[in-house]
Amino acid sequence: MIGIFDSGIGGLTVVRELLRQAPNASFVYLGDTARTPYGNKSKETIERYALEDAAFLISRGVTAIVIACNTASALAIDALRSHYHGFPIFDVIAPAVEDALAVTTGRIGVIGTRSTIGSGIYQKQLIARLASGVAHPLEIKTHACPLFVPLVEEGWLDDAETKRIIKHYLYPLRSQNVDTLILGCTHYPLLKPLIHRFMGRRVRLIDSATSVVQRMLVEIEIEHTGSQVYYLTDVSPHSVEIARQWLGKKIQFEKATLSS
Ligand code: DGL
Repeated sequence: MIGIFDSGIGGLTVVRELLRQAPNASFVYLGDTARTPYGNKSKETIERYALEDAAFLISRGVTAIVIACNTASALAIDALRSHYHGFPIFDVIAPAVEDALAVTTGRIGVIGTRSTIGSGIYQKQLIARLASGVAHPLEIKTHACPLFVPLVEEGWLDDAETKRIIKHYLYPLRSQNVDTLILGCTHYPLLKPLIHRFMGRRVRLIDSATSVVQRMLVEIEIEHTGSQVYYLTDVSPHSVEIARQWLGKKIQFEKATLSS
């Protein structure tokens, strides 16, 4: 059984993608809604939270973990891998980087939370992989887009305010002619139509949810018993409603208590 965790409900975009590709996949989802957002917190805090999230999932008997959260992937992957040495842990960054390199003609944009962009992980991974064999030169432009998360959680997916903020954040990337844009945050796939419209149809959008699910289904055998359990560290009516909208069905959330 797979364990999937996120800073909150954003990781449901990964669940949505998993259900699309493997409807009966067995998993336990944990959203740390009591402590969300992670996207503006320090590495030290995010590492601590991520270790507690992983420990909870492992206590539920999972045999592999997907870090659905870009921020936790960016800041805590090393801590998780060294703490759970040998345990299969998938982060959302490496698969998105590979998918971006497979389609780019040389100008990649990356957007994410402040902490993700501040970590510089996408540049590091893109450059490391480039050094190991991609032929063309690469320019990487990054931009933190902190207002996208609350806009998506408000359900403002096609509002004038959202369009204005998209323009504000993405104009520099558009004017630098990026040809591929990595959506480096759980929430951004919900803004795909508006981002595509603003960036132009020729720009390839890389959705890290799709990338990580594809990678995981290739790399490990998963169970298909349909056992799907959802935990949140804080269960509020708003989270339940967002989950219903994103997954198109009512989800029964259990309350998780994490131990440090
Ligand atoms: N899940 C986070 C991410 O993908 C976004 C929300 C947050 O800041 O916690 O980076």
